Amino acid sequence: MILHSRNRRLRSSQSIRDLMRETTLTTDDFMLPLFITEGNNIKEEISSMPGIYRQSLDLTLKEIKELWSLGIKAVNLYVKVSDNLKDNTGKEAWNKEGLMQQAIKAIKDTVPEMIVMPDVALDPYSIYGHDGIVKEGKIINDETVDALVKMSLSHAEAGADFVAPSDMMDGRVSAIRKALEENHFHDVGIMSYTAKYASSYYGPFRDALDSAPGFGDKKTYQMDYCNSKEAINEALKDINEGADIIMVKPGLPYLDIVSKLNELVDVPISVYQVSGEYSMIKAAVNQGWLDNNKVIIESLSCIKRAGASLITTYFAKEAARILNS
Ligand code: PBG
Repeated sequence: MILHSRNRRLRSSQSIRDLMRETTLTTDDFMLPLFITEGNNIKEEISSMPGIYRQSLDLTLKEIKELWSLGIKAVNLYVKVSDNLKDNTGKEAWNKEGLMQQAIKAIKDTVPEMIVMPDVALDPYSIYGHDGIVKEGKIINDETVDALVKMSLSHAEAGADFVAPSDMMDGRVSAIRKALEENHFHDVGIMSYTAKYASSYYGPFRDALDSAPGFGDKKTYQMDYCNSKEAINEALKDINEGADIIMVKPGLPYLDIVSKLNELVDVPISVYQVSGEYSMIKAAVNQGWLDNNKVIIESLSCIKRAGASLITTYFAKEAARILNS
């Protein structure tokens, strides 16, 4: 056969494949979510996320040093607070002495170069497990935005590099940006959860923080997974309101959204490979059905290929070890 071109030529050896590779994963691509709990010397495995722990701050600080030595440069923080600190206003969220504020400060004191991005949403502090203030069974947008502004300022005061609003209220990026500017936090950035879908893949995360909604679901604020134009609309608004980084969440089932946004917008895109994606992969690995290291690197490489500048992933530490070995 005389073929004018043969695609297999560029796949014929490891060397040529290495030379032709379009996407290279490095530890610079990762941000690790951390679950922090009250107390000392506490390390509890999350039953639906084997290998992932809720840890007290003392142990978290040890982990921060380890992460830095592995080449991980960013952490996304979540706290689990006790029920007696929860109410409908979420006011513990902006307590200057709160667990999140202590954690931000302690992490920045331990490894100043580590980029710290605390989550901004009321759900860990809400008696209803919702991301906003509830009135007559509804999540109230504008009052929630006021609360998120207070929360963001308290994170900035504690030393956060970025705040990461994950609540999906309208207008929160501009309100937070304005408050940060007015309070001279010019260098504190906003990573906005822009296209955050109402997803069943968040189940294990809600186990980790004991934050499942007490009534209803989150569909009046998180997006319908059948839609993609809405993601563009959200992204253009968030960028216009001052978001430095936009996020798409979940990851693997939503790479069409990542790819589309990557072509349309010129701010970096972060992709969150969420708890349920982690758990699915780990479940198959633990059954012996998938190869752990190979599937981790493949899933993260595909997210990067789709257009992610930053990947928020529970695999960050394992992936760093694999890449460094
Ligand atoms: C809540 C929040 C959630 C996640 C990040 N921030 C859960 C939710 O919206 O119910 C999910 C992350 C994951 O599943 O890993 N503000």
